[in-house]
Amino acid sequence: MKAIALTRYLPITNPESLVDVELPKPEASGRDLLVRVEAISVNPVDTKVRSPKDKVEPAPKVLGWDAAGVVETVGADVTLFKPGDAVYYAGEIGRPGSNAQFQLVDERLVGRKPRTLDYAQAAALPLTTITAYEAMFERLGISVDGADRGKSLLIIGAAGGVGSIALQLARLAGLTVIGTVGRAETREWTASLGLELSIDHGQPLPEQLSALGHAEVDYVLNLNNTDRYWDVIAEVLKPRGKVCSIVENSGPLNQAPYKTKNLTHAWEHMFVRGVFKTADMIEIHHLLNRVADWIDQGTLKPTLTDRLAPINAAKLREAHMQLETGRTIGKLALIGWS
Ligand SMILES: NC(=O)c1ccc[n+]([C@@H]2O[C@H](COP(=O)([O-])OP(=O)(O)OC[C@H]3O[C@@H](n4cnc5c(N)ncnc54)[C@H](OP(=O)(O)O)[C@@H]3O)[C@@H](O)[C@H]2O)c1
Repeated sequence: MKAIALTRYLPITNPESLVDVELPKPEASGRDLLVRVEAISVNPVDTKVRSPKDKVEPAPKVLGWDAAGVVETVGADVTLFKPGDAVYYAGEIGRPGSNAQFQLVDERLVGRKPRTLDYAQAAALPLTTITAYEAMFERLGISVDGADRGKSLLIIGAAGGVGSIALQLARLAGLTVIGTVGRAETREWTASLGLELSIDHGQPLPEQLSALGHAEVDYVLNLNNTDRYWDVIAEVLKPRGKVCSIVENSGPLNQAPYKTKNLTHAWEHMFVRGVFKTADMIEIHHLLNRVADWIDQGTLKPTLTDRLAPINAAKLREAHMQLETGRTIGKLALIGWS
């Protein structure tokens, strides 16, 4: 089968950073599905894993943690899917990724593909959706069913991959959502997804929140630099407010203002269920199916803004380059094998 892989960790401008390879087609066993990958998406985790370092892989390593495709064969213990089913999933960080024509993935981490989306639109959703859903409805404990209707949520970095789905899920739960954007284009994009209140992350946040009548908020979802936003988050949260961060910090974080206001800080790492094989791993399957229903009902909009074709190393390097600017809007996907 065709795949895109690396053995060395090089700058993306080097043509050897991601290369076209031929690999044996894997075989499904246990609870694994073998999926014929039709489209893939890219996320900052791909560029972080691929980032330049001295390490050399003994065999080609396939990255990629977002795909949509068709179930080709199933392992003996599979109960949730059958060959021919259209699916979408992010998969597991520790296993060969989705940048390949065929991929093995545990059925509990897979959802049915939204019927109303094409493969590229579907591939753009899983990783960011799992992240946003878990961060808000599990880590922050916000009610998905509307019991927290009217409470306020500040999303830092609302226009990126995670922000574009997070703001929609938060509105669905009835929250008053304020999102940060840095440019006219991202303000326009988030407004097209339903965001009514936006502020500029290039300017101080507290003054802008006050001007909107939300000097303090109940929740913050921080989708950007945790170190940079740590102190201002404590400033704008209500006493006993809650924040969830998804980006690892690089320096020490001052706990004092968090203690003073009885704030709760939670981390979200969307690969946890797969990595630790938690007893509730199947919740990813339920979550992706629930989101597929919302998409098909028109309650949520797809977040894809750009598509590249075909799926090959040159196009994937182009996608990584775009991501590395830190300025992509919504999501980028690759579709079709050459
Ligand atoms: N822990 C997890 O499980 C998990 C899961 C997914 C992602 N992540 C991490 O979360 C981060 C975001 O992921 P993503 O997929 O949403 O990334 P992304 O799509 O690459 O985010 C791009 C967006 O970031 C915004 N941005 C740029 N500078 C900013 C700033 N100073 N403050 C706030 N926003 C800014 C840009 O908006 P403007 O153009 O409007 O400035 C742009 O639209 C990445 O670091 C990723 O690795 C973690």
